[in-house]
Amino acid sequence: MSNSPTMSLRALPFLYRVGIALLVVTLLGGYVVSGFYLRVHYDNRDETPGLSMNDIIGAYHGVQTPSPLIEALESGHPDTIEEYERASLLTWLRSDRVSQDYDNLDLGDEAPSEIIAMSCLDCHTRGATEEGTYAEVPLEYWDDIQKLAVSKDIKPAGPNIIATSQHAHAPMMAVVLIVLGMLGSMTRFSKGFIGVVVSIAAAGLLVDMASWWITREIAAFAYAIVVGGMLYAAGTMLVGFLVILDCILPAGKADPSS
Ligand code: HEC
Repeated sequence: MSNSPTMSLRALPFLYRVGIALLVVTLLGGYVVSGFYLRVHYDNRDETPGLSMNDIIGAYHGVQTPSPLIEALESGHPDTIEEYERASLLTWLRSDRVSQDYDNLDLGDEAPSEIIAMSCLDCHTRGATEEGTYAEVPLEYWDDIQKLAVSKDIKPAGPNIIATSQHAHAPMMAVVLIVLGMLGSMTRFSKGFIGVVVSIAAAGLLVDMASWWITREIAAFAYAIVVGGMLYAAGTMLVGFLVILDCILPAGKADPSS
């Protein structure tokens, strides 16, 4: 390998190497910043703090989580409620007037707030301590109810948004890796090793980009987006660091091939 005619970074003038090192620092810094931005961007898709797989699945596939109140009522809970009241609560929860009708005076005793007070609050108050009660999920106030009443329906980004985003990202990320891979091959570090890292990162990028589309159909591919993206990021960072290192380390013994 040492006999190959590849240009060596170490053979370049000092200021040339400084320039390359500064550019790669800027490049990696930009990636770190956009990594943080991505976190914030997808963070709250599922209204639960923190970036979770659910946020990613929501962004690329969509997520529907039914309202816990609907689920409980449909499952026959509680078995003490009159069936017409269960039906009335379900009709209300499935309507688009959940907040307006919650304590609608026109509904009298049939207002959801009244039914809940009669049928649920024996067990679902903050102060409930008796056996068979459930103070963990209070249903006393509208704020309590509201959180449990909504079905979370996260819509995925439309195909045109994905295409526009990919138009910006795929070529840029690929070119960055091509340039870093070439610079990496000009360092004192093993070309074989750099080659393995570049190949893994490149495969990661391809899998990541392809999975943006596949995840629309198959939610499990959201994991491929994350794993592929991480492999790309890790490989890019590693090669970038090696390039910076090679530029700032003393040139040492000149490369025999130069
Ligand atoms: C006799 C007491 C009792 C009554 C009355 C009762 N619940 Fe419950 N509820 C429980 C208990 C205990 C649990 C937790 C164990 C379980 O899921 O069965 C629970 C769980 C729930 C959950 C699931 C919370 C979660 O962890 O996701 C919901 C939603 C719920 N109840 C809604 C209601 C509604 C609405 C009513 C009135 C229409 C009601 N409950 C009436 C005792 C009660």
